[in-house]
This record gives sequence, structure tokens and C-alpha cells, in this order.
Amino acid sequence: MSVKSTNITHVEHRVSQEARWAKNGHTSGVVWFTGLSGAGKTTLAFGLEQRLFKKGYQVYVLDGDNARHGINSDLGFSPEDRTENIRRVGEVAALFARAGYIAISAFISPYRKDRRHARKAAGAGFHEVFIDADLDVCEQRDPKGLYKKARAGKIMEFTGISAPYETPENPELVIKTGETTVDQCLGRLIDYVDRTFSPSGAPSEERRKERYAKSNARL
Ligand SMILES: Nc1ncnc2c1ncn2[C@@H]1O[C@H](COP(=O)(O)OP(=O)(O)OP(=O)(O)O)[C@@H](O)[C@H]1O
Ligand SMILES: [Mg+2]
Repeated sequence: MSVKSTNITHVEHRVSQEARWAKNGHTSGVVWFTGLSGAGKTTLAFGLEQRLFKKGYQVYVLDGDNARHGINSDLGFSPEDRTENIRRVGEVAALFARAGYIAISAFISPYRKDRRHARKAAGAGFHEVFIDADLDVCEQRDPKGLYKKARAGKIMEFTGISAPYETPENPELVIKTGETTVDQCLGRLIDYVDRTFSPSGAPSEERRKERYAKSNARL
């Protein structure tokens, strides 16, 4: 998307990221779930939010369906609209991370280039989590009856059926939901968050720059 505004400057906050982390007792970032419809993104995102909140984390879920009722209600499912959907959500998730939160985003986000943009918006604190289930498993689950409609030709451009899904090439974490229970998946996710966002694991300025460079190298 081209930038249309001119004559704008960047203004610095007077509260540092480190001060926010110290107050919250953990570092912040974006935990970006990607996967087919029915793979389990929403189920795991809200389960994770609930458990992390109970543990004292500042955490918030951005979910595909909710966003399409609000900030992205003007967008459809064409490739251009899907890209714009993810661009906006990527920016919002990055804002939550800068505010000190762990933002969990649950969007199909089928295109690699769109996920790369979301990574770029969030910088070093971006963690791509592939919520991985085979198409036939998702289709059998069909929690919203969407696959049935897509197969009947009632929904066009449905990911996995009539629109592509580009699997992550180098995600930080893969959660296979076809072979494990919701509880087991949540256990792995909580371990990952505890390890990644622990205050003692708060990266030094140098380490953060290193991680940021590494993150950019993935772009
Ligand atoms: N290990 C698991 N993890 C997550 N969900 C699971 C698991 N095993 C079974 N399920 C079931 O799979 C379904 C996943 O549906 P969910 O709405 O979470 O998918 P989604 O990825 O958010 O899909 P969409 O992109 O359409 O919003 C639920 O009915 C859930 O109970
Ligand atoms: Mg969902």
C-alpha cells in the first residue's frame, strides 16, 4: 500500500518499552497464529488468552471474525482485500505489543508476503505460530459449516478449496492440532510464552537489535 500522507514526523514516547515491561513483569510482542479455517486458531487463541490472563499476563486476542465486524468491515475476501485485512491487523497487533501487551492474532493470513509485512510492523517481538491441521481434518471438523458451503459453490475464494494457503516456511513454532488435544496444544503454547516473554529473558538492547536483524533477515 502506498503512503499518501506527507509532512509527517515521528514522535517519541516518554515511557520506554523497558519501563512498560518492568511494570507488567513480562516482555511484549505479537504471537501470530496462521492456518486453515478450522485448524483451531480461535479455539487456541482464546484458551491461551484466558490462561495467560490468570497467570497475570497483559494479553489480548485479535480474531479474524471480530475484526471483520469492525475495523475491517469494509473488506471482502479478494486477494487485495485479504492483504489489506492483514496489513491493518498487523499494524494493530504491533501497537498492542508496543503498549506492553502480548497480542495473539488469529487470522488465516494465507499469504506469506502479508505475514512478512506483519512481522516487519512488529519488529523483533514477532512470533509466527503455524496452527497446523490437514485440509481433510479441517473439512471434517467444519465448525462453521463453511467448507460445506464452499464445496457447494456458495462461498467463492475459500482458503484451501478455491483460494491458496501458503504454508509458513520458517515459523517460530508449529502446533499440530490434528493429532493432539486442545489441552495439550495449550500446554505447549503456554510453555512457549513463558519462555519467550519472561522478564528474566527480557533481551538486552544489544540482543534486541540482534533479534530484530534476524527477524528482518527472514523478510
Ligand atoms: N487440538 C486442537 N486445537 C484446536 N482446536 C481443536 C483441536 N482439536 C479439535 N479442535 C476443534 O477444531 C475446531 C477449530 O475451530 P476454530 O474455530 O478454532 O478454527 P479457526 O482456525 O479459528 O477457523 P477460522 O479460520 O474459520 O476462524 C473446534 O471445533 C475445536 O474444538
Ligand atoms: Mg477463527
